Amino acid sequence: MKVTTSAITSISTSILLLFTTLTNAIDLDITSFDSIYAATRLISSGLMDYYWGYKPGGTIGMFTNPYYWWEAGGAWGTMIDYWYFMQNDTYADVIYESLLYQTGDDYNYMPLNQTTTEGNDDQVFWGIAAMQAAERNFTNPPEKKEQWLYLAQGVFNTMAWRWDDDTCGGGLRWQIFRWNAGYDYKNSVSNIGLFHMGARLARFTGNDSYVDWSEKVYDWLNDTGLVSEGEDWWFVYDGAGVETNCTTISKLQWTYNVGLIISGCAYLYNYTEDERWLEKTEKFIHGAQVFLNHSVAYEAACQPSGNYQS
Ligand SMILES: *[C@@H]1O[C@H](CO)[C@@H](O)[C@H](O)[C@H]1NC(C)=O
Ligand SMILES: *[C@@H]1O[C@H](CO)[C@@H](O)[C@H](O)[C@H]1NC(C)=O
Ligand SMILES: *[C@@H]1O[C@H](CO)[C@@H](O)[C@H](O)[C@H]1NC(C)=O
Ligand SMILES: *[C@@H]1O[C@H](CO)[C@@H](O)[C@H](O)[C@H]1NC(C)=O
Ligand SMILES: *[C@@H]1O[C@H](CO)[C@@H](O)[C@H](O)[C@H]1NC(C)=O
Ligand SMILES: *[C@@H]1O[C@H](CO)[C@@H](O)[C@H](O)[C@H]1NC(C)=O
Ligand SMILES: *[C@@H]1O[C@H](CO)[C@@H](O)[C@H](O)[C@H]1NC(C)=O
Ligand SMILES: *[C@@H]1O[C@H](CO)[C@@H](O)[C@H](O)[C@H]1NC(C)=O
Repeated sequence: MKVTTSAITSISTSILLLFTTLTNAIDLDITSFDSIYAATRLISSGLMDYYWGYKPGGTIGMFTNPYYWWEAGGAWGTMIDYWYFMQNDTYADVIYESLLYQTGDDYNYMPLNQTTTEGNDDQVFWGIAAMQAAERNFTNPPEKKEQWLYLAQGVFNTMAWRWDDDTCGGGLRWQIFRWNAGYDYKNSVSNIGLFHMGARLARFTGNDSYVDWSEKVYDWLNDTGLVSEGEDWWFVYDGAGVETNCTTISKLQWTYNVGLIISGCAYLYNYTEDERWLEKTEKFIHGAQVFLNHSVAYEAACQPSGNYQS
Protein backbone atom coordinates (compact mmCIF):
# COMPACT_ATOMS: atom_id res chain seq x y z
CA MET A 1 0.00 0.00 0.00
CA LYS A 2 1.17 3.45 -0.76
CA VAL A 3 0.09 6.39 1.31
CA THR A 4 -1.78 9.17 -0.42
CA THR A 5 -2.96 12.33 1.24
CA SER A 6 -6.49 11.99 -0.01
CA ALA A 7 -9.45 11.62 2.30
CA ILE A 8 -9.89 8.09 1.05
CA THR A 9 -6.91 6.94 3.14
CA SER A 10 -9.24 7.15 6.11
CA ILE A 11 -11.64 4.47 5.00
CA SER A 12 -10.53 1.95 7.59
CA THR A 13 -13.90 2.50 9.13
CA SER A 14 -16.79 4.08 7.41
CA ILE A 15 -17.32 6.27 10.44
CA LEU A 16 -13.93 7.89 10.06
CA LEU A 17 -14.61 8.30 6.35
CA LEU A 18 -17.84 10.06 7.12
CA PHE A 19 -16.16 12.42 9.53
CA THR A 20 -13.24 13.33 7.30
CA THR A 21 -15.39 13.75 4.24
CA LEU A 22 -18.31 15.52 5.80
CA THR A 23 -16.25 18.24 7.40
CA ASN A 24 -15.50 19.61 3.95
CA ALA A 25 -18.97 20.72 2.99
CA ILE A 26 -21.83 18.52 4.10
CA ASP A 27 -24.10 19.26 7.03
CA LEU A 28 -24.86 16.26 9.19
CA ASP A 29 -27.12 15.88 12.17
CA ILE A 30 -26.44 12.41 13.53
CA THR A 31 -29.72 12.38 15.44
CA SER A 32 -31.72 12.71 12.23
CA PHE A 33 -32.25 9.81 9.86
CA ASP A 34 -33.16 12.19 7.04
CA SER A 35 -29.91 14.07 7.50
CA ILE A 36 -27.82 10.88 7.49
CA TYR A 37 -29.78 9.68 4.48
CA ALA A 38 -29.07 12.85 2.51
CA ALA A 39 -25.41 13.03 3.50
CA THR A 40 -24.64 9.40 2.69
CA ARG A 41 -26.51 9.65 -0.60
CA LEU A 42 -24.30 12.54 -1.61
CA ILE A 43 -21.11 10.78 -0.50
CA SER A 44 -21.92 7.45 -2.11
CA SER A 45 -22.78 8.97 -5.46
CA GLY A 46 -19.71 11.22 -5.21
CA LEU A 47 -17.52 8.20 -4.47
CA MET A 48 -18.97 6.31 -7.41
CA ASP A 49 -18.08 9.17 -9.75
CA TYR A 50 -14.55 7.84 -9.38
CA TYR A 51 -15.50 4.28 -10.25
CA TRP A 52 -13.56 3.12 -13.28
CA GLY A 53 -15.44 -0.03 -14.25
CA TYR A 54 -17.99 1.80 -16.41
CA LYS A 55 -15.44 3.94 -18.20
CA PRO A 56 -13.49 3.20 -21.39
CA GLY A 57 -10.42 1.12 -20.60
CA GLY A 58 -11.63 0.70 -17.03
CA THR A 59 -11.37 -2.44 -14.92
CA ILE A 60 -14.24 -3.89 -12.90
CA GLY A 61 -13.76 -3.23 -9.19
CA MET A 62 -11.18 -0.46 -9.63
CA PHE A 63 -11.37 3.29 -9.20
CA THR A 64 -9.69 5.87 -11.42
CA ASN A 65 -6.11 6.98 -10.89
CA PRO A 66 -4.61 7.85 -8.47
CA TYR A 67 -6.72 5.52 -6.33
CA TYR A 68 -5.04 2.23 -5.57
CA TRP A 69 -6.47 -1.24 -5.57
CA TRP A 70 -6.55 -1.37 -1.74
CA GLU A 71 -8.57 1.81 -1.60
CA ALA A 72 -11.14 0.19 -3.88
CA GLY A 73 -11.43 -2.64 -1.35
CA GLY A 74 -12.07 -0.08 1.39
CA ALA A 75 -14.62 1.71 -0.77
CA TRP A 76 -16.65 -1.47 -1.45
CA GLY A 77 -16.85 -2.26 2.26
CA THR A 78 -18.23 1.23 2.82
CA MET A 79 -20.67 0.88 -0.08
CA ILE A 80 -22.04 -2.31 1.49
CA ASP A 81 -22.83 -0.30 4.61
CA TYR A 82 -24.60 2.29 2.47
CA TRP A 83 -26.63 -0.46 0.79
CA TYR A 84 -27.48 -1.99 4.17
CA PHE A 85 -28.27 1.00 6.36
CA MET A 86 -29.96 3.16 3.72
CA GLN A 87 -31.63 0.16 2.04
CA ASN A 88 -30.57 1.47 -1.33
CA ASP A 89 -30.00 -1.09 -4.10
CA THR A 90 -28.65 1.31 -6.70
CA TYR A 91 -25.09 0.00 -6.52
CA ALA A 92 -25.75 -3.55 -5.33
CA ASP A 93 -24.92 -5.11 -8.71
CA VAL A 94 -21.72 -3.11 -9.08
CA ILE A 95 -20.57 -4.04 -5.57
CA TYR A 96 -21.35 -7.70 -6.20
CA GLU A 97 -19.59 -7.80 -9.55
CA SER A 98 -16.54 -5.97 -8.19
CA LEU A 99 -16.09 -8.18 -5.13
CA LEU A 100 -16.18 -11.26 -7.35
CA TYR A 101 -14.07 -9.93 -10.21
CA GLN A 102 -11.08 -9.20 -7.96
CA THR A 103 -10.93 -12.45 -5.94
CA GLY A 104 -8.00 -13.88 -7.90
CA ASP A 105 -7.77 -17.53 -9.00
CA ASP A 106 -7.40 -18.83 -5.43
CA TYR A 107 -10.34 -16.88 -3.96
CA ASN A 108 -8.23 -14.93 -1.51
CA TYR A 109 -7.94 -11.50 -3.12
CA MET A 110 -4.59 -11.99 -4.72
CA PRO A 111 -5.45 -11.27 -8.37
CA LEU A 112 -2.56 -11.69 -10.81
CA ASN A 113 -2.66 -8.02 -11.85
CA GLN A 114 -1.73 -6.96 -8.31
CA THR A 115 1.05 -9.41 -7.54
CA THR A 116 3.84 -6.98 -8.32
CA THR A 117 2.62 -4.55 -5.68
CA GLU A 118 0.24 -6.30 -3.30
CA GLY A 119 1.07 -6.12 0.41
CA ASN A 120 -0.66 -7.75 3.37
CA ASP A 121 -2.41 -4.47 4.09
CA ASP A 122 -3.76 -4.21 0.53
CA GLN A 123 -5.14 -7.72 0.69
CA VAL A 124 -6.83 -7.18 4.03
CA PHE A 125 -8.97 -4.27 2.84
CA TRP A 126 -10.62 -6.61 0.34
CA GLY A 127 -10.89 -9.27 3.03
CA ILE A 128 -12.70 -6.76 5.22
CA ALA A 129 -15.10 -5.96 2.36
CA ALA A 130 -15.88 -9.69 1.99
CA MET A 131 -16.36 -9.92 5.77
CA GLN A 132 -18.71 -6.94 5.61
CA ALA A 133 -20.70 -8.71 2.88
CA ALA A 134 -20.97 -11.87 5.01
CA GLU A 135 -22.01 -9.97 8.15
CA ARG A 136 -24.60 -7.86 6.34
CA ASN A 137 -25.98 -10.85 4.47
CA PHE A 138 -25.20 -9.15 1.18
CA THR A 139 -26.45 -11.36 -1.67
CA ASN A 140 -24.07 -14.31 -1.77
CA PRO A 141 -22.68 -15.86 -4.96
CA PRO A 142 -24.63 -18.94 -6.15
CA GLU A 143 -24.43 -21.86 -3.68
CA LYS A 144 -21.84 -23.84 -5.61
CA LYS A 145 -19.51 -20.84 -5.76
CA GLU A 146 -17.26 -19.53 -3.01
CA GLN A 147 -19.32 -17.54 -0.50
CA TRP A 148 -18.34 -14.24 1.18
CA LEU A 149 -17.25 -16.02 4.35
CA TYR A 150 -15.02 -18.34 2.34
CA LEU A 151 -13.37 -15.34 0.66
CA ALA A 152 -12.82 -13.59 3.99
CA GLN A 153 -11.32 -16.78 5.43
CA GLY A 154 -9.09 -17.11 2.37
CA VAL A 155 -7.62 -13.70 3.15
CA PHE A 156 -7.24 -14.49 6.85
CA ASN A 157 -5.61 -17.88 6.22
CA THR A 158 -3.07 -16.65 3.68
CA MET A 159 -2.13 -13.78 5.97
CA ALA A 160 -1.83 -16.02 9.03
CA TRP A 161 0.46 -18.38 7.08
CA ARG A 162 2.84 -15.48 6.52
CA TRP A 163 3.36 -14.92 10.24
CA ASP A 164 7.11 -14.58 10.54
CA ASP A 165 8.85 -15.61 13.76
CA ASP A 166 12.35 -15.24 12.28
CA THR A 167 12.61 -11.55 13.07
CA CYS A 168 11.09 -9.26 15.72
CA GLY A 169 9.67 -12.23 17.64
CA GLY A 170 6.80 -12.53 15.12
CA GLY A 171 4.56 -10.26 13.09
CA LEU A 172 3.63 -9.91 9.45
CA ARG A 173 5.87 -8.11 7.05
CA TRP A 174 4.34 -5.26 5.08
CA GLN A 175 5.00 -6.85 1.70
CA ILE A 176 4.03 -10.35 0.66
CA PHE A 177 6.74 -10.71 -1.96
CA ARG A 178 10.46 -10.55 -1.28
CA TRP A 179 11.16 -8.48 -4.39
CA ASN A 180 9.00 -5.58 -3.27
CA ALA A 181 10.36 -2.56 -1.42
CA GLY A 182 8.91 -2.74 2.07
CA TYR A 183 9.54 -6.46 2.54
CA ASP A 184 11.93 -5.53 5.36
CA TYR A 185 9.30 -3.52 7.19
CA LYS A 186 6.72 -4.84 9.64
CA ASN A 187 3.93 -2.31 9.53
CA SER A 188 1.10 -1.96 11.99
CA VAL A 189 -1.73 -1.90 9.49
CA SER A 190 -0.92 -5.36 8.10
CA ASN A 191 -0.85 -6.78 11.61
CA ILE A 192 -3.84 -4.84 12.90
CA GLY A 193 -5.66 -5.96 9.76
CA LEU A 194 -5.06 -9.59 10.73
CA PHE A 195 -6.11 -8.82 14.31
CA HIS A 196 -9.30 -7.14 13.04
CA MET A 197 -10.21 -10.00 10.66
CA GLY A 198 -9.64 -12.53 13.45
CA ALA A 199 -11.99 -10.63 15.75
CA ARG A 200 -14.77 -10.49 13.16
CA LEU A 201 -14.35 -14.09 12.04
CA ALA A 202 -14.52 -15.23 15.68
CA ARG A 203 -17.76 -13.31 16.20
CA PHE A 204 -19.24 -14.49 12.92
CA THR A 205 -18.26 -18.17 13.11
CA GLY A 206 -18.01 -18.75 16.88
CA ASN A 207 -14.62 -20.40 16.33
CA ASP A 208 -12.28 -19.49 19.21
CA SER A 209 -9.11 -20.17 17.22
CA TYR A 210 -9.64 -16.76 15.68
CA VAL A 211 -9.64 -15.17 19.14
CA ASP A 212 -6.32 -16.90 19.87
CA TRP A 213 -4.90 -15.41 16.69
CA SER A 214 -6.13 -11.93 17.51
CA GLU A 215 -4.66 -12.17 21.02
CA LYS A 216 -1.34 -13.28 19.57
CA VAL A 217 -1.22 -10.40 17.10
CA TYR A 218 -2.24 -7.88 19.76
CA ASP A 219 0.42 -9.12 22.19
CA TRP A 220 3.07 -8.89 19.50
CA LEU A 221 2.06 -5.32 18.62
CA ASN A 222 2.21 -4.38 22.28
CA ASP A 223 5.51 -6.21 22.94
CA THR A 224 7.25 -4.46 20.05
CA GLY A 225 5.84 -1.08 21.09
CA LEU A 226 3.94 -0.57 17.82
CA VAL A 227 0.96 -0.26 20.11
CA SER A 228 1.65 1.81 23.18
CA GLU A 229 -0.58 1.29 26.21
CA GLY A 230 0.29 4.50 28.01
CA GLU A 231 -0.91 5.75 31.38
CA ASP A 232 -3.70 7.86 29.85
CA TRP A 233 -2.90 7.88 26.17
CA TRP A 234 -2.81 4.75 24.03
CA PHE A 235 -1.37 5.15 20.57
CA VAL A 236 -0.69 3.07 17.47
CA TYR A 237 2.47 3.77 15.49
CA ASP A 238 3.28 3.07 11.85
CA GLY A 239 5.77 0.21 11.86
CA ALA A 240 9.36 -0.98 12.39
CA GLY A 241 12.18 -2.43 10.29
CA VAL A 242 13.47 -5.99 10.61
CA GLU A 243 17.10 -4.80 10.28
CA THR A 244 16.89 -3.51 13.87
CA ASN A 245 14.70 -6.45 14.92
CA CYS A 246 11.85 -3.93 15.22
CA THR A 247 13.55 -1.96 17.97
CA THR A 248 13.39 1.31 16.01
CA ILE A 249 9.82 2.39 15.59
CA SER A 250 8.48 4.85 13.05
CA LYS A 251 6.09 6.87 15.18
CA LEU A 252 3.74 8.28 12.55
CA GLN A 253 0.09 7.81 13.49
CA TRP A 254 -2.69 7.15 10.96
CA THR A 255 -6.45 7.14 11.39
CA TYR A 256 -6.91 3.77 9.70
CA ASN A 257 -4.66 2.06 12.26
CA VAL A 258 -6.58 3.38 15.22
CA GLY A 259 -9.90 2.79 13.40
CA LEU A 260 -9.07 -0.85 12.72
CA ILE A 261 -7.84 -1.49 16.26
CA ILE A 262 -10.82 0.23 17.94
CA SER A 263 -13.29 -1.78 15.91
CA GLY A 264 -11.27 -5.00 16.29
CA CYS A 265 -11.26 -4.60 20.09
CA ALA A 266 -15.01 -3.88 20.01
CA TYR A 267 -15.76 -7.01 17.96
CA LEU A 268 -13.67 -9.05 20.39
CA TYR A 269 -15.51 -7.58 23.36
CA ASN A 270 -18.82 -8.29 21.71
CA TYR A 271 -17.90 -11.92 21.12
CA THR A 272 -15.90 -12.75 24.27
CA GLU A 273 -17.64 -10.35 26.69
CA ASP A 274 -14.20 -10.00 28.25
CA GLU A 275 -13.93 -6.56 29.92
CA ARG A 276 -10.27 -6.27 28.86
CA TRP A 277 -11.41 -5.66 25.28
CA LEU A 278 -13.96 -3.08 26.36
CA GLU A 279 -11.25 -1.21 28.23
CA LYS A 280 -8.96 -1.33 25.21
CA THR A 281 -11.75 -0.11 22.94
CA GLU A 282 -12.30 2.88 25.20
CA LYS A 283 -8.59 3.65 25.60
CA PHE A 284 -7.97 3.68 21.86
CA ILE A 285 -11.04 5.86 21.28
CA HIS A 286 -9.61 8.30 23.82
CA GLY A 287 -6.19 8.18 22.10
CA ALA A 288 -7.83 8.94 18.75
CA GLN A 289 -8.20 12.53 19.93
CA VAL A 290 -4.80 13.17 18.36
CA PHE A 291 -6.71 13.22 15.08
CA LEU A 292 -9.23 15.83 16.21
CA ASN A 293 -9.11 19.60 16.13
CA HIS A 294 -12.26 20.89 17.83
CA SER A 295 -14.06 17.63 17.01
CA VAL A 296 -13.00 17.77 13.37
CA ALA A 297 -11.08 14.67 12.29
CA TYR A 298 -8.07 15.12 10.05
CA GLU A 299 -5.08 13.02 9.01
CA ALA A 300 -2.64 14.60 11.44
CA ALA A 301 0.52 13.04 9.98
CA CYS A 302 0.04 14.58 6.54
CA GLN A 303 -2.55 17.34 6.71
CA PRO A 304 -0.96 20.66 7.63
CA SER A 305 -3.52 22.21 9.96
CA GLY A 306 -4.50 20.71 13.27
CA ASN A 307 -3.65 20.21 16.91
CA TYR A 308 -1.46 17.17 16.41
CA GLN A 309 0.34 16.21 19.62
CA SER A 310 2.98 13.49 19.72
C1 LIG B 1 -29.95 5.57 -3.85
O1 LIG B 1 -28.60 6.01 -3.94
C2 LIG B 1 -28.30 6.74 -5.12
C3 LIG B 1 -26.81 7.03 -5.11
O2 LIG B 1 -26.41 7.66 -3.94
C4 LIG B 1 -29.13 8.00 -5.18
O3 LIG B 1 -28.86 8.67 -6.38
C5 LIG B 1 -30.61 7.64 -5.11
O4 LIG B 1 -31.36 8.82 -5.02
C6 LIG B 1 -30.87 6.79 -3.88
N1 LIG B 1 -32.26 6.34 -3.89
C7 LIG B 1 -33.11 6.71 -2.96
C8 LIG B 1 -34.50 6.15 -3.07
O5 LIG B 1 -32.80 7.43 -2.02
C1 LIG C 1 -6.08 -7.26 -15.26
O1 LIG C 1 -5.57 -6.31 -16.20
C2 LIG C 1 -6.11 -6.48 -17.53
C3 LIG C 1 -5.37 -5.49 -18.42
O2 LIG C 1 -5.51 -4.18 -17.95
C4 LIG C 1 -7.60 -6.24 -17.49
O3 LIG C 1 -8.16 -6.45 -18.78
C5 LIG C 1 -8.24 -7.22 -16.52
O4 LIG C 1 -9.62 -6.94 -16.42
C6 LIG C 1 -7.60 -7.09 -15.14
N1 LIG C 1 -8.13 -8.09 -14.22
C7 LIG C 1 -8.41 -7.80 -12.96
C8 LIG C 1 -8.92 -8.94 -12.12
O5 LIG C 1 -8.26 -6.71 -12.46
C1 LIG D 1 -29.92 -13.62 4.04
O1 LIG D 1 -30.42 -13.37 2.73
C2 LIG D 1 -31.10 -14.45 2.15
C3 LIG D 1 -31.51 -14.04 0.74
O2 LIG D 1 -30.47 -13.37 0.10
C4 LIG D 1 -32.32 -14.84 2.99
O3 LIG D 1 -32.91 -15.98 2.45
C5 LIG D 1 -31.88 -15.11 4.42
O4 LIG D 1 -33.00 -15.31 5.23
C6 LIG D 1 -31.06 -13.95 4.97
N1 LIG D 1 -30.53 -14.31 6.30
C7 LIG D 1 -30.56 -13.48 7.32
C8 LIG D 1 -29.97 -14.00 8.59
O5 LIG D 1 -31.02 -12.37 7.26
C1 LIG E 1 14.47 -10.03 18.28
O1 LIG E 1 13.38 -9.70 19.13
C2 LIG E 1 12.73 -10.84 19.67
C3 LIG E 1 11.49 -10.35 20.40
O2 LIG E 1 11.80 -9.36 21.31
C4 LIG E 1 13.70 -11.59 20.56
O3 LIG E 1 13.06 -12.73 21.11
C5 LIG E 1 14.90 -12.01 19.74
O4 LIG E 1 15.86 -12.64 20.56
C6 LIG E 1 15.53 -10.81 19.06
N1 LIG E 1 16.56 -11.26 18.14
C7 LIG E 1 17.77 -10.72 18.10
C8 LIG E 1 18.70 -11.27 17.08
O5 LIG E 1 18.08 -9.82 18.85
C1 LIG F 1 -11.41 -22.82 13.47
O1 LIG F 1 -10.53 -21.94 12.82
C2 LIG F 1 -9.21 -22.45 12.65
C3 LIG F 1 -8.36 -21.34 12.11
O2 LIG F 1 -8.78 -20.91 10.87
C4 LIG F 1 -9.27 -23.67 11.75
O3 LIG F 1 -7.98 -24.21 11.60
C5 LIG F 1 -10.19 -24.71 12.37
O4 LIG F 1 -10.36 -25.79 11.47
C6 LIG F 1 -11.57 -24.10 12.67
N1 LIG F 1 -12.36 -25.05 13.43
C7 LIG F 1 -13.59 -25.41 13.07
C8 LIG F 1 -14.30 -26.34 13.99
O5 LIG F 1 -14.11 -24.99 12.04
C1 LIG G 1 1.62 -4.14 27.04
O1 LIG G 1 2.97 -3.84 27.33
C2 LIG G 1 3.15 -3.16 28.56
C3 LIG G 1 4.63 -2.91 28.75
O2 LIG G 1 5.20 -2.43 27.59
C4 LIG G 1 2.61 -3.99 29.70
O3 LIG G 1 2.68 -3.23 30.88
C5 LIG G 1 1.17 -4.36 29.42
O4 LIG G 1 0.71 -5.25 30.42
C6 LIG G 1 1.06 -5.04 28.09
N1 LIG G 1 -0.32 -5.34 27.81
C7 LIG G 1 -0.72 -6.54 27.45
C8 LIG G 1 -2.17 -6.68 27.13
O5 LIG G 1 0.04 -7.49 27.37
C1 LIG H 1 -23.02 -7.73 20.82
O1 LIG H 1 -23.69 -7.17 19.70
C2 LIG H 1 -25.08 -7.43 19.65
C3 LIG H 1 -25.62 -6.78 18.39
O2 LIG H 1 -24.90 -7.16 17.30
C4 LIG H 1 -25.76 -6.88 20.89
O3 LIG H 1 -27.12 -7.22 20.86
C5 LIG H 1 -25.09 -7.43 22.14
O4 LIG H 1 -25.63 -6.81 23.29
C6 LIG H 1 -23.60 -7.16 22.11
N1 LIG H 1 -22.95 -7.76 23.28
C7 LIG H 1 -22.16 -7.06 24.08
C8 LIG H 1 -21.51 -7.81 25.19
O5 LIG H 1 -21.91 -5.89 23.90
C1 LIG I 1 -7.51 23.93 14.38
O1 LIG I 1 -8.25 24.29 13.25
C2 LIG I 1 -8.34 25.67 13.05
C3 LIG I 1 -9.21 25.89 11.85
O2 LIG I 1 -10.44 25.32 12.07
C4 LIG I 1 -6.98 26.26 12.80
O3 LIG I 1 -7.07 27.66 12.65
C5 LIG I 1 -6.08 25.92 13.96
O4 LIG I 1 -4.76 26.33 13.65
C6 LIG I 1 -6.10 24.44 14.23
N1 LIG I 1 -5.38 24.20 15.48
C7 LIG I 1 -4.13 23.80 15.51
C8 LIG I 1 -3.51 23.61 16.86
O5 LIG I 1 -3.50 23.53 14.50
